[in-house]
Amino acid sequence: MTIKTQFFTTPIYYVNAKPHLGHAYTSIAADVSTRFKQMQGYRTFFLTGTDEHGDKIVQAAEKQNSTPKEYADKISQLFQDILPVLNIKNDYFIRTTDENHKKIVKAVLSKIHDSGDIYFSSYEGLYCFGCERFYQERELVDGKCPDHGTAPEVIKESNYFFKMSKYQDWLIDHINTHPDFIRPDQYRTEILSFLKEPLEDLCISRPKTRLTWGITLPFDENFVTYVWFDALVNYISALGYPDSDTFRTFWPGARHFVAKDIIKPHGIYWPIMLKAAGIDIYGGLNVHGFWNVQGSKMSKSIGNVTDPHQVTDTYGTDAFRYFLMREMVFGLDANFTEQTLVSRINSDLANDLGNVFSRVLSMNQRYFKGKIKGADTRIETQKNLSLKSDAQAAVDEFSMAMEKCEFHKGIQAVWHFISILNKYIDTNEPWTLAKDESTLPVLETLMYNLIESLRVVSCLIYPVMPQTSADMQKTLGIQKTDGGFYTLQEAAVWGQIKTASVLPDPQMLFPRIDVEKAPPKELSTPVKSFKPPLKEEITIDDFAKIDLRTATVVKAEKIENSSKLLKLTVDLGAETRQVIAGIAKDYAPEEIIGKQVIVVANLKQAHLMGELSQGMILAASNKKGLVLSGFDKPVKPGNCVK
Ligand code: MSP
Repeated sequence: MTIKTQFFTTPIYYVNAKPHLGHAYTSIAADVSTRFKQMQGYRTFFLTGTDEHGDKIVQAAEKQNSTPKEYADKISQLFQDILPVLNIKNDYFIRTTDENHKKIVKAVLSKIHDSGDIYFSSYEGLYCFGCERFYQERELVDGKCPDHGTAPEVIKESNYFFKMSKYQDWLIDHINTHPDFIRPDQYRTEILSFLKEPLEDLCISRPKTRLTWGITLPFDENFVTYVWFDALVNYISALGYPDSDTFRTFWPGARHFVAKDIIKPHGIYWPIMLKAAGIDIYGGLNVHGFWNVQGSKMSKSIGNVTDPHQVTDTYGTDAFRYFLMREMVFGLDANFTEQTLVSRINSDLANDLGNVFSRVLSMNQRYFKGKIKGADTRIETQKNLSLKSDAQAAVDEFSMAMEKCEFHKGIQAVWHFISILNKYIDTNEPWTLAKDESTLPVLETLMYNLIESLRVVSCLIYPVMPQTSADMQKTLGIQKTDGGFYTLQEAAVWGQIKTASVLPDPQMLFPRIDVEKAPPKELSTPVKSFKPPLKEEITIDDFAKIDLRTATVVKAEKIENSSKLLKLTVDLGAETRQVIAGIAKDYAPEEIIGKQVIVVANLKQAHLMGELSQGMILAASNKKGLVLSGFDKPVKPGNCVK
């Protein structure tokens, strides 16, 4: 049986700046895809690295009074050091200053030169030193470089050119016949529309009189290669092109991850370079959008360049990986703010994932002292097997989305399954079943299915949150050694949790971040007077669904074994109800009797610490704790609050 292989790459990052949020995103996206492919049974190779030649690096080094090499060593190290911090598992880290890379760049240049696709010519054009490239007049904005806002200088020099124009029709045809070559679709369309204009030949050299920090052309020692011819070749030099087994094994079907800023070199120059050098064309390009920070493009002058170390130090690596993958729709731009990060941690990770995990395991602890009982096959099918098919659906949807780099959809599929688990608990009411000896087999079955579902969740979150996946699996007693993972096939096989084993008390996966008590630290620009993020906008009709009523507290008592909860009896005019409220730390029972409060009267009943709660009373949190909502004049109980 031949094992399928997949090669993923990130761009090699310039060493003129330290790693930031944008670099972290591309590398995490490629890491997530690599781990996902491994779950599909592929052998993978994941490459990242640094791009170290060119004017920009020379200038940055000069500013620091270092040589380009010393400077590149230092910054390249920062890019290497951040990988374990982000839990990125690369197979190789390439540097364009590596001797082997330089040798292979020269070999590729010679090959293309020999075949006649590189020629020498004199050229006069508008050159932007910031971008290290010539511009066409039509590409400028008000006569200025669109990226740097400075007027380019007219430069005349002789240089080597690559005959890209010769391959234009071939490339259009290749893109048209390979729908997955550039994705998402909007970038494929962008490249195709660019190719409607005649392609200019590409200037691939710089005279050494102007730049020495580069790879000398093998056919003219007075010139060095221009950045792209050097940089793009990293993808094959790292694999040991042309003869190594690694190259033969992994190059076919290679997929590159880049952001929209570099689609032209990747979508046009690179396939044509490969074609001209007689090398197989890569399999595809995955293009994502840009992260803005607090609504603006990251820039040193605004001061919003976000350092991934700071985010992971404050919130943890898995939360950061989750947020980036969940928040950005791959292909579109996204906005990073600390408020949205905290909000996702609290709602998706602490509330949804963390809560269902501890909810299920605590119930199992309470009912069966942690022992996993088996599912009783005599239990009616609906109760017994509905989660099995829901789990399968989650695996299928997750796989389909992840395959297309639709990470946010893949994650949504898992979270949809989590919401099903919560509903399953609420509808089947394990606490009621636990009260009656005769319904214990049903309870055992429910608990088994829930624990089994948590196993599936733990498998599916692996690519995005490898550490949390391992933590869950450790608690469930199914951890793999050496950071191993379960394949998708294994994830989908129902019934793998072993009965009779005893699970420990669940640990908290993601503690809630109390934004009132511990406002987020400054990650980039200060977040002024942090307030909990506002929730999604709703319509007046949505609001009208909530039945808020005035109520008077007529009785209040403590609940045994709970330091937080009070059992209240509230008068709602036409009826009295029991409401369990988490205010025991803030109000003594005698203090609250007689108070008029607001009750959410149509909230689904729930049990808290085994006590029925028929609604919820509203309170606001402040630094010292909770303050009950109320009225400044007496009101009749049971009236509507609008
Ligand atoms: N050295 C070239 C790439 C050569 S690849 C053969 C280069 N380097 S770079 O340091 O500028 O990195 C650009 C890449 O960094 C983008 O394509 C993207 O992967 C990542 N990002 C940089 N800023 C980003 C955002 N604000 N948002 C998302 N990704 C960003 O270009």
